[in-house]
Amino acid sequence: MQRRLGQSEITLSAVGLGLVDFAAGPGWLSRALFPPLDQPAKTAVVAAALGAGIDWFDTAEMYGFGASERALAVALRSLDVAPDAVTVATKWFPLGRTASHLGRSIGARCRALEPYPIGLYMVHHPFGFSTAIAEMRAMASLARRGLIHSIGVSNFSAAAMRRAHRTLAALGLPLAVNQVRFNLLDRRLETNGVLATAQELGISLIAYSPLAKGLLSGRYHREPALLARQGLRRRLMMPQNLRRTAPLIAALDAVAAAHGASAAQVALAWVLQRHGALMLAAVGATRPQQASAAAAAMAISLSAKEMALLTERSDYALA
Ligand SMILES: NC(=O)c1ccc[n+]([C@@H]2O[C@H](COP(=O)([O-])OP(=O)(O)OC[C@H]3O[C@@H](n4cnc5c(N)ncnc54)[C@H](OP(=O)(O)O)[C@@H]3O)[C@@H](O)[C@H]2O)c1
Repeated sequence: MQRRLGQSEITLSAVGLGLVDFAAGPGWLSRALFPPLDQPAKTAVVAAALGAGIDWFDTAEMYGFGASERALAVALRSLDVAPDAVTVATKWFPLGRTASHLGRSIGARCRALEPYPIGLYMVHHPFGFSTAIAEMRAMASLARRGLIHSIGVSNFSAAAMRRAHRTLAALGLPLAVNQVRFNLLDRRLETNGVLATAQELGISLIAYSPLAKGLLSGRYHREPALLARQGLRRRLMMPQNLRRTAPLIAALDAVAAAHGASAAQVALAWVLQRHGALMLAAVGATRPQQASAAAAAMAISLSAKEMALLTERSDYALA
Protein backbone atom coordinates (compact mmCIF):
# COMPACT_ATOMS: atom_id res chain seq x y z
CA MET A 1 0.00 0.00 0.00
CA GLN A 2 1.69 3.17 -1.24
CA ARG A 3 0.66 6.73 -0.36
CA ARG A 4 1.77 10.05 -1.78
CA LEU A 5 3.41 12.52 0.59
CA GLY A 6 1.19 15.60 0.31
CA GLN A 7 1.68 17.39 -2.99
CA SER A 8 5.32 16.24 -3.23
CA GLU A 9 6.64 13.77 -5.79
CA ILE A 10 7.40 11.24 -3.06
CA THR A 11 5.38 8.03 -2.69
CA LEU A 12 5.90 5.84 0.38
CA SER A 13 4.57 2.67 1.97
CA ALA A 14 1.61 3.66 4.15
CA VAL A 15 3.50 2.32 7.19
CA GLY A 16 6.99 3.54 8.03
CA LEU A 17 9.28 2.35 10.80
CA GLY A 18 9.61 4.87 13.64
CA LEU A 19 13.00 4.84 15.33
CA VAL A 20 12.65 6.53 18.69
CA ASP A 21 13.44 3.08 20.13
CA PHE A 22 16.90 3.32 18.51
CA ALA A 23 17.86 6.37 20.59
CA ALA A 24 19.71 4.76 23.49
CA GLY A 25 23.29 5.83 23.94
CA PRO A 26 25.67 5.97 26.86
CA GLY A 27 24.46 7.50 30.13
CA TRP A 28 21.85 6.66 32.76
CA LEU A 29 19.22 9.05 31.40
CA SER A 30 19.36 7.50 27.98
CA ARG A 31 19.08 4.01 29.50
CA ALA A 32 16.11 5.13 31.63
CA LEU A 33 14.32 6.57 28.61
CA PHE A 34 14.98 4.18 25.75
CA PRO A 35 15.11 0.39 25.26
CA PRO A 36 18.62 -1.09 25.45
CA LEU A 37 18.90 -2.35 21.86
CA ASP A 38 22.38 -3.07 20.50
CA GLN A 39 23.29 -2.44 16.85
CA PRO A 40 22.70 -6.04 15.66
CA ALA A 41 19.19 -5.91 17.20
CA LYS A 42 18.50 -2.57 15.47
CA THR A 43 19.79 -3.89 12.16
CA ALA A 44 17.54 -6.96 12.47
CA VAL A 45 14.49 -4.71 12.99
CA VAL A 46 15.41 -2.62 9.93
CA ALA A 47 15.98 -5.77 7.85
CA ALA A 48 12.58 -7.17 8.86
CA ALA A 49 10.86 -3.90 7.97
CA LEU A 50 12.51 -3.75 4.54
CA GLY A 51 11.82 -7.42 3.88
CA ALA A 52 8.11 -6.93 4.61
CA GLY A 53 7.64 -3.90 2.35
CA ILE A 54 8.33 -0.85 4.52
CA ASP A 55 10.34 1.67 2.50
CA TRP A 56 10.78 4.64 4.85
CA PHE A 57 12.13 5.36 8.31
CA ASP A 58 11.21 8.07 10.77
CA THR A 59 13.94 9.39 13.02
CA ALA A 60 15.00 12.70 14.59
CA GLU A 61 18.00 14.61 15.79
CA MET A 62 16.50 14.47 19.27
CA TYR A 63 16.35 10.66 19.35
CA GLY A 64 19.60 10.28 21.25
CA PHE A 65 21.20 13.43 19.76
CA GLY A 66 21.75 11.66 16.44
CA ALA A 67 22.14 8.12 17.89
CA SER A 68 18.97 6.88 16.15
CA GLU A 69 19.97 8.46 12.82
CA ARG A 70 23.45 6.92 13.02
CA ALA A 71 22.07 3.49 13.97
CA LEU A 72 19.72 3.60 10.98
CA ALA A 73 22.53 4.49 8.58
CA VAL A 74 24.75 1.73 10.03
CA ALA A 75 21.91 -0.78 9.61
CA LEU A 76 21.13 0.26 6.03
CA ARG A 77 24.80 0.25 5.03
CA SER A 78 25.37 -3.19 6.53
CA LEU A 79 22.31 -4.47 4.64
CA ASP A 80 23.73 -3.02 1.39
CA VAL A 81 20.68 -0.81 0.86
CA ALA A 82 21.23 1.69 -1.96
CA PRO A 83 20.78 5.37 -0.97
CA ASP A 84 17.87 5.82 -3.40
CA ALA A 85 16.07 2.60 -2.32
CA VAL A 86 14.61 4.05 0.89
CA THR A 87 13.32 7.37 2.20
CA VAL A 88 14.60 8.79 5.46
CA ALA A 89 12.45 11.25 7.38
CA THR A 90 14.16 13.14 10.16
CA LYS A 91 13.45 16.18 12.32
CA TRP A 92 15.19 19.36 13.44
CA PHE A 93 14.77 20.15 17.15
CA PRO A 94 13.72 23.79 17.56
CA LEU A 95 13.67 24.23 21.36
CA GLY A 96 15.96 27.11 22.38
CA ARG A 97 17.01 27.70 18.78
CA THR A 98 16.24 30.10 15.96
CA ALA A 99 15.58 29.20 12.33
CA SER A 100 19.16 30.05 11.35
CA HIS A 101 20.25 26.91 13.23
CA LEU A 102 18.62 24.82 10.45
CA GLY A 103 21.32 25.92 8.01
CA ARG A 104 24.12 25.53 10.55
CA SER A 105 23.15 22.00 11.64
CA ILE A 106 22.18 20.38 8.33
CA GLY A 107 25.76 19.16 7.82
CA ALA A 108 25.60 17.21 11.08
CA ARG A 109 22.30 15.60 10.07
CA CYS A 110 23.67 14.60 6.66
CA ARG A 111 26.81 13.17 8.25
CA ALA A 112 24.78 11.13 10.76
CA LEU A 113 22.73 9.62 7.92
CA GLU A 114 25.52 9.28 5.34
CA PRO A 115 25.08 8.18 2.53
CA TYR A 116 21.27 8.25 2.82
CA PRO A 117 19.67 11.54 1.77
CA ILE A 118 17.02 13.32 3.81
CA GLY A 119 13.78 12.62 1.94
CA LEU A 120 11.61 14.50 4.43
CA TYR A 121 12.86 17.09 6.94
CA MET A 122 10.43 18.20 9.64
CA VAL A 123 10.40 20.83 12.35
CA HIS A 124 9.89 18.58 15.39
CA HIS A 125 7.49 20.86 17.27
CA PRO A 126 6.31 24.47 17.25
CA PHE A 127 8.29 25.69 20.28
CA GLY A 128 11.33 27.31 18.69
CA PHE A 129 12.47 30.91 19.14
CA SER A 130 11.61 31.73 15.50
CA THR A 131 8.23 31.87 13.78
CA ALA A 132 7.00 29.08 11.53
CA ILE A 133 7.48 31.55 8.67
CA ALA A 134 11.21 31.96 9.38
CA GLU A 135 11.60 28.20 9.84
CA MET A 136 9.90 27.44 6.52
CA ARG A 137 12.08 29.99 4.71
CA ALA A 138 15.17 28.28 6.15
CA MET A 139 13.76 24.87 5.14
CA ALA A 140 13.09 26.16 1.61
CA SER A 141 16.71 27.26 1.37
CA LEU A 142 17.85 23.72 2.30
CA ALA A 143 15.52 22.29 -0.36
CA ARG A 144 16.83 24.69 -3.02
CA ARG A 145 20.38 23.62 -2.17
CA GLY A 146 19.33 20.00 -2.75
CA LEU A 147 20.03 19.02 0.88
CA ILE A 148 16.48 17.80 1.58
CA HIS A 149 13.78 16.51 -0.78
CA SER A 150 10.59 17.57 0.99
CA ILE A 151 9.51 19.67 3.96
CA GLY A 152 7.26 18.86 6.89
CA VAL A 153 6.29 19.92 10.39
CA SER A 154 5.31 17.94 13.46
CA ASN A 155 2.95 18.67 16.34
CA PHE A 156 1.81 21.86 14.58
CA SER A 157 -1.68 23.28 15.23
CA ALA A 158 -4.03 23.93 12.32
CA ALA A 159 -3.16 27.64 12.36
CA ALA A 160 0.62 27.07 12.45
CA MET A 161 0.31 24.45 9.73
CA ARG A 162 -1.58 26.93 7.55
CA ARG A 163 1.12 29.59 8.08
CA ALA A 164 3.84 27.08 7.17
CA HIS A 165 1.90 26.01 4.07
CA ARG A 166 1.33 29.62 2.96
CA THR A 167 5.01 30.54 3.41
CA LEU A 168 6.23 27.58 1.36
CA ALA A 169 3.54 28.04 -1.32
CA ALA A 170 4.78 31.61 -1.86
CA LEU A 171 8.21 30.09 -2.53
CA GLY A 172 6.78 27.47 -4.91
CA LEU A 173 7.17 24.54 -2.51
CA PRO A 174 4.58 22.28 -0.87
CA LEU A 175 4.30 21.56 2.84
CA ALA A 176 4.27 17.76 2.54
CA VAL A 177 3.42 16.62 6.06
CA ASN A 178 2.29 17.36 9.59
CA GLN A 179 3.34 14.48 11.88
CA VAL A 180 0.94 14.23 14.82
CA ARG A 181 -0.10 11.68 17.41
CA PHE A 182 -3.11 9.68 16.23
CA ASN A 183 -4.49 6.36 17.39
CA LEU A 184 -7.70 4.85 18.78
CA LEU A 185 -6.94 6.52 22.12
CA ASP A 186 -5.89 9.93 20.80
CA ARG A 187 -8.10 11.45 18.14
CA ARG A 188 -7.61 15.12 18.91
CA LEU A 189 -6.67 15.89 15.30
CA GLU A 190 -10.26 15.07 14.29
CA THR A 191 -11.65 17.98 16.31
CA ASN A 192 -8.82 20.53 16.64
CA GLY A 193 -8.79 21.55 12.98
CA VAL A 194 -5.61 19.70 11.98
CA LEU A 195 -7.41 17.03 9.94
CA ALA A 196 -9.74 19.55 8.23
CA THR A 197 -6.81 21.82 7.36
CA ALA A 198 -4.73 18.94 6.01
CA GLN A 199 -7.68 17.83 3.85
CA GLU A 200 -8.25 21.37 2.57
CA LEU A 201 -4.59 22.04 1.74
CA GLY A 202 -3.60 18.54 0.54
CA ILE A 203 -1.06 17.96 3.32
CA SER A 204 -0.38 14.38 4.45
CA LEU A 205 -0.62 13.45 8.10
CA ILE A 206 1.83 10.98 9.60
CA ALA A 207 0.26 9.34 12.64
CA TYR A 208 2.83 8.77 15.36
CA SER A 209 2.36 6.36 18.28
CA PRO A 210 -0.36 4.54 16.27
CA LEU A 211 -0.33 1.68 18.83
CA ALA A 212 -0.47 4.05 21.83
CA LYS A 213 3.05 2.81 22.61
CA GLY A 214 2.00 -0.82 22.55
CA LEU A 215 -1.09 -0.44 24.77
CA LEU A 216 -3.42 -1.23 21.85
CA SER A 217 -1.78 -4.64 21.44
CA GLY A 218 -3.68 -5.66 24.59
CA ARG A 219 -0.58 -7.04 26.29
CA TYR A 220 -0.91 -4.69 29.30
CA HIS A 221 -4.56 -5.63 29.71
CA ARG A 222 -3.60 -9.29 29.72
CA GLU A 223 -0.70 -8.68 32.14
CA PRO A 224 -1.07 -5.32 33.97
CA ALA A 225 2.16 -5.91 35.93
CA LEU A 226 4.04 -5.31 32.66
CA LEU A 227 3.18 -1.59 32.83
CA ALA A 228 5.29 -1.07 35.92
CA ARG A 229 8.28 -2.59 34.15
CA GLN A 230 8.17 -0.07 31.29
CA GLY A 231 10.82 2.63 31.03
CA LEU A 232 10.16 6.12 32.36
CA ARG A 233 9.29 7.67 28.97
CA ARG A 234 6.72 4.96 28.16
CA ARG A 235 5.12 5.16 31.60
CA LEU A 236 4.72 8.89 31.31
CA MET A 237 3.33 8.85 27.79
CA MET A 238 1.15 5.75 27.71
CA PRO A 239 -2.59 6.00 28.46
CA GLN A 240 -3.05 3.85 31.54
CA ASN A 241 -6.76 3.50 32.20
CA LEU A 242 -6.96 -0.23 31.59
CA ARG A 243 -10.56 -0.53 32.80
CA ARG A 244 -11.91 2.18 30.50
CA THR A 245 -9.98 0.84 27.50
CA ALA A 246 -10.84 -2.86 28.08
CA PRO A 247 -13.94 -2.88 25.80
CA LEU A 248 -11.83 -1.43 22.99
CA ILE A 249 -9.17 -4.11 23.47
CA ALA A 250 -11.90 -6.79 23.44
CA ALA A 251 -13.18 -5.42 20.11
CA LEU A 252 -9.65 -5.31 18.68
CA ASP A 253 -9.14 -8.95 19.72
CA ALA A 254 -12.46 -10.01 18.14
CA VAL A 255 -11.77 -8.22 14.84
CA ALA A 256 -8.21 -9.52 14.84
CA ALA A 257 -9.42 -13.11 15.23
CA ALA A 258 -11.70 -12.68 12.21
CA HIS A 259 -8.72 -11.54 10.10
CA GLY A 260 -6.16 -14.01 11.46
CA ALA A 261 -4.25 -10.96 12.69
CA SER A 262 -3.24 -9.40 16.03
CA ALA A 263 -4.93 -6.58 17.94
CA ALA A 264 -1.90 -4.36 17.22
CA GLN A 265 -2.26 -4.94 13.49
CA VAL A 266 -5.97 -4.11 13.58
CA ALA A 267 -5.29 -0.92 15.58
CA LEU A 268 -2.81 0.09 12.87
CA ALA A 269 -5.22 -0.83 10.05
CA TRP A 270 -7.86 1.41 11.71
CA VAL A 271 -5.40 4.34 11.65
CA LEU A 272 -4.66 3.76 7.96
CA GLN A 273 -8.31 3.42 6.97
CA ARG A 274 -9.97 6.04 9.16
CA HIS A 275 -9.06 9.03 6.94
CA GLY A 276 -7.97 7.29 3.76
CA ALA A 277 -4.95 8.13 1.64
CA LEU A 278 -4.15 11.32 3.56
CA MET A 279 -2.77 9.30 6.49
CA LEU A 280 0.51 7.43 6.84
CA ALA A 281 1.75 5.93 10.10
CA ALA A 282 5.16 5.74 11.80
CA VAL A 283 5.11 2.68 14.04
CA GLY A 284 7.79 1.74 16.55
CA ALA A 285 9.28 -1.75 16.86
CA THR A 286 11.87 -3.24 19.17
CA ARG A 287 11.76 -6.72 17.62
CA PRO A 288 11.91 -7.89 13.98
CA GLN A 289 8.51 -9.63 14.25
CA GLN A 290 6.88 -6.35 15.30
CA ALA A 291 8.25 -4.61 12.20
CA SER A 292 7.03 -7.34 9.85
CA ALA A 293 3.64 -7.45 11.61
CA ALA A 294 3.30 -3.68 11.16
CA ALA A 295 4.03 -4.01 7.45
CA ALA A 296 1.49 -6.83 7.12
CA ALA A 297 -1.20 -4.58 8.61
CA MET A 298 -1.18 -2.67 5.31
CA ALA A 299 -2.95 -5.67 3.74
CA ILE A 300 -5.79 -5.75 6.27
CA SER A 301 -9.05 -4.35 4.98
CA LEU A 302 -11.55 -3.64 7.75
CA SER A 303 -15.25 -3.67 6.88
CA ALA A 304 -17.45 -0.64 7.54
CA LYS A 305 -19.02 -2.58 10.42
CA GLU A 306 -15.62 -3.37 11.96
CA MET A 307 -14.49 0.26 11.59
CA ALA A 308 -17.73 1.44 13.25
CA LEU A 309 -17.34 -0.99 16.16
CA LEU A 310 -13.75 0.09 16.84
CA THR A 311 -14.63 3.78 16.55
CA GLU A 312 -17.55 3.36 18.92
CA ARG A 313 -15.32 1.60 21.52
CA SER A 314 -12.73 4.34 21.01
CA ASP A 315 -15.45 6.95 21.68
CA TYR A 316 -16.31 5.14 24.93
CA ALA A 317 -12.66 4.98 26.04
CA LEU A 318 -12.20 8.68 25.30
CA ALA A 319 -15.49 9.90 26.83
N1 LIG B 1 6.93 13.72 16.10
C1 LIG B 1 6.88 13.39 17.37
O1 LIG B 1 6.81 14.26 18.26
C2 LIG B 1 6.87 11.92 17.73
C3 LIG B 1 6.55 11.54 19.06
C4 LIG B 1 6.53 10.16 19.34
C5 LIG B 1 6.82 9.23 18.36
N2 LIG B 1 7.15 9.65 17.09
C6 LIG B 1 7.50 8.69 16.02
O2 LIG B 1 6.50 7.68 15.95
C7 LIG B 1 7.13 6.39 16.10
C8 LIG B 1 6.19 5.40 16.75
O3 LIG B 1 5.70 5.90 17.97
P1 LIG B 1 5.98 5.19 19.36
O4 LIG B 1 7.18 4.33 19.25
O5 LIG B 1 5.93 6.28 20.35
O6 LIG B 1 4.65 4.34 19.62
P2 LIG B 1 3.88 3.12 18.89
O7 LIG B 1 4.30 2.98 17.49
O8 LIG B 1 2.46 3.35 19.20
O9 LIG B 1 4.35 1.88 19.76
C9 LIG B 1 5.57 1.24 19.50
C10 LIG B 1 5.84 0.19 20.56
O10 LIG B 1 4.76 -0.74 20.64
C11 LIG B 1 5.27 -2.04 20.84
N3 LIG B 1 4.85 -2.87 19.69
C12 LIG B 1 5.14 -2.70 18.40
N4 LIG B 1 4.56 -3.64 17.62
C13 LIG B 1 3.90 -4.44 18.47
C14 LIG B 1 3.11 -5.60 18.30
N5 LIG B 1 2.90 -6.11 17.09
N6 LIG B 1 2.58 -6.17 19.40
C15 LIG B 1 2.78 -5.65 20.62
N7 LIG B 1 3.54 -4.55 20.86
C16 LIG B 1 4.08 -3.95 19.79
C17 LIG B 1 6.78 -1.94 20.94
O11 LIG B 1 7.12 -1.82 22.31
P3 LIG B 1 7.81 -2.99 23.18
O12 LIG B 1 9.27 -2.78 23.10
O13 LIG B 1 7.28 -2.74 24.54
O14 LIG B 1 7.40 -4.31 22.61
C18 LIG B 1 7.06 -0.63 20.21
O15 LIG B 1 8.21 0.02 20.68
C19 LIG B 1 8.40 6.69 16.89
O16 LIG B 1 9.37 5.67 16.77
C20 LIG B 1 8.83 7.99 16.28
O17 LIG B 1 9.48 7.76 15.03
C21 LIG B 1 7.15 10.98 16.77
